[in-house]
Amino acid sequence: MSQWTDVAAADDIFEGAAIAVTPSGLDIAVYKTEAGEVFATDNICTHGHARLCDGFLEGHEIECPFHQGRFDIRTGQPTLEPCVDAIKSYPVKIEGGRVWLEI
Ligand code: FES
Repeated sequence: MSQWTDVAAADDIFEGAAIAVTPSGLDIAVYKTEAGEVFATDNICTHGHARLCDGFLEGHEIECPFHQGRFDIRTGQPTLEPCVDAIKSYPVKIEGGRVWLEI
């Protein structure tokens, strides 16, 4: 059963950047767009073992640091090869200045 979990302070994430959080042993990337929207996906690329929190965020796309494949951070869908398999995305809410994920 999924539940809302407090994973970070909203201010801990800079605009246009990502951080890694590890609730319940998971490895999840939490992104904040330049517009201040927050999204979360699994942190490990489906093409290799790169951590997407180390990648380059542009708009709603995260570029993998290894081979520059891309995913849409809103859905986890791949948007550029060599990434072809989706990553899992997680519902996010901001409450009380904290980032909550439904995991
Ligand atoms: S490991 Fe991410 S694109 Fe290859």
